[in-house]
Amino acid sequence: MAGTEARIVVLGADVALDCRPGETVLAALHRHGHAVRAGCRRGGCGICKLHIVEGSVDYTHAVAPTVLTDDERADGVCLTCRAVPEGKVVLEVRPEDVSRPHALATLYASLGLAAPDPAATR
Ligand code: FES
Repeated sequence: MAGTEARIVVLGADVALDCRPGETVLAALHRHGHAVRAGCRRGGCGICKLHIVEGSVDYTHAVAPTVLTDDERADGVCLTCRAVPEGKVVLEVRPEDVSRPHALATLYASLGLAAPDPAATR
């Protein structure tokens, strides 16, 4: 969506992030210090999936249907390492979407999420 400022908003939290032109959702989240899960960072593993609640993304690189299925796309799932926001995108970030949960109590708080019980994640 040319000419529209790309932004990421995290549902239920006071988080609104700017995106650079062509920047992926994952790169923008990480650049702003939000340690959401990531693996290969090139569309091959599917670990970086998040749910889009509002808005749309563009895929500038091919995404294999075995990694992101048509049903997932229809349900609002995006592959954040390949997805480039088209304007404002609202994401849902769940506790299980955040990496390094033991060291990220501040991030959980900034995302409006309750940190998981460390004993339950061992
Ligand atoms: S990090 Fe592997 S598909 Fe996105």
